[in-house]
Amino acid sequence: MSFRFSRRSFARLLGAAAGAASLPSLGSSLNPGGIGVPGALPPMDGMGGVRSFPQGFVWGSATASYQVEGAVKEDGRGVSIWDTFSHTPGKVANGDTSDVADDSYHRYKEDVALMKSLGLKGCRFSVAWSRIFPNGTGQVNEKGLDHYKAFVDELLGAGIEPYCTLYHWDLPQALQDKGGWENRDIAEQFAHYAGYTAGKLSDRCKHFMTMNEMRSFVELGYGNGMHAPGLQVGPKRLAQLNHYVVLAHGMSVAAIRAASKPGTKVGIADNVDAATPVIETPEHIAAAEKAMREENAMFLTVLQEGKYTDQYLKRLGADAPHFTPEEMKTIAAPMDFVGINVYQPMWVRADESEKGYAVVPWPSSYPTMLSPWLKVGPEGLYWAPKLVNKLWGVKEMYITENGCSSADVVNADGEILDTDRTMFIRNYLTQLQRAVSEGVPVKGYFLWSLLDNYEWADGYEKRFGITYVDFKTQKRTPKLSAKYYKHVIAQNGL
Ligand code: FCB
Repeated sequence: MSFRFSRRSFARLLGAAAGAASLPSLGSSLNPGGIGVPGALPPMDGMGGVRSFPQGFVWGSATASYQVEGAVKEDGRGVSIWDTFSHTPGKVANGDTSDVADDSYHRYKEDVALMKSLGLKGCRFSVAWSRIFPNGTGQVNEKGLDHYKAFVDELLGAGIEPYCTLYHWDLPQALQDKGGWENRDIAEQFAHYAGYTAGKLSDRCKHFMTMNEMRSFVELGYGNGMHAPGLQVGPKRLAQLNHYVVLAHGMSVAAIRAASKPGTKVGIADNVDAATPVIETPEHIAAAEKAMREENAMFLTVLQEGKYTDQYLKRLGADAPHFTPEEMKTIAAPMDFVGINVYQPMWVRADESEKGYAVVPWPSSYPTMLSPWLKVGPEGLYWAPKLVNKLWGVKEMYITENGCSSADVVNADGEILDTDRTMFIRNYLTQLQRAVSEGVPVKGYFLWSLLDNYEWADGYEKRFGITYVDFKTQKRTPKLSAKYYKHVIAQNGL
């Protein structure tokens, strides 16, 4: 089963985002002196001139527990909602489950050696909640913890800095049975798990992300039901559980701080809607800034501002969430860094409406990678960090995911020449370098993904790795894109 509509445009289907019904004409005033004009790019001579990144830039890769680990019944791991969902007929392409996946639970040493051979400086991974607390709360499973300690030690031994995500969608089934993210108790339960786990790992791991992509697991899990737990709860319940998600984040920031060693940094990995001006003129840039704030109102904006925007509450009307002033304060707990996952831009133009912007729909011919939702737009990797930094003065940022799916084939010589992925990465990194060279404080980039893996409802059909995995033999083969990335890392630029 493939997605019938874009994973990230779901909010617009709910009518929660900008409508594109009447689009006034574009402004025409090109302003070469305005901010962010292409002229800001250093010359690209193609003859060895390197567009550098700052010294110490963290070149990394990203994975997530349920997508790579396998070993779902091992060492006391409890059942997660993704086990249940993937074993439910009709939910995932080809009925694929992640029972084995990349078998990284057993092969993590090989994976770390692979990272080292590419020269990676950082590794973003996630902890499976149900390996630590098989029932979500209560009894701790020491063996689960031991696994992550061993994994982190292996990374450190290879000179690779660990970046740990505490929730990448694999909620313990026992908690879903009590309402999952719809049950307010989950905020305390998540904070407890996050604090406990970070506390145990903070002697060796310095960066923790509370959650991955709030929008995805809220809207896909409970909005259109295309991801676990596969529910369609309607707009009112969706807005309320969205509130519990941001509350859980805020409570967990405090819990992680309280339990961890001094110097531990706490942040998030959020897939902001990456508002990007259709033309880099002042009016469209201003529109994109408004869109960045408004389209992310119930996610990064509320985390940064401690309030829901007026427009968001107005838009929801009677469906708006219930909240207390105290909860809003908790939600806005200051973070040490902000991670954003950027795959595609959200093209925005100036508009006469109250909002002052309009989101431009995708033309049918828009260039798209293998996943239908993945529209190509390298400029998103310039504008997303730029606008997040401008709006909220974030001091430390990471690109916690970026990458793409390709129709990879192994050729007669055993190579995978993924020129499309290589082109994708090169162009996105060019825009990231543009942002960094203008002083946007992005400290690292985590490519999704190190390995081909279990791509949620797309099963094994959509390969996102820079390393090809033969799922029958578990043989790993670096693709052309891995060689390219290794080259970028080696010269700290492109
Ligand atoms: C992101 C997810 C990640 C992976 C990539 C392709 O939305 O965070 O797990 O599925 O997309």
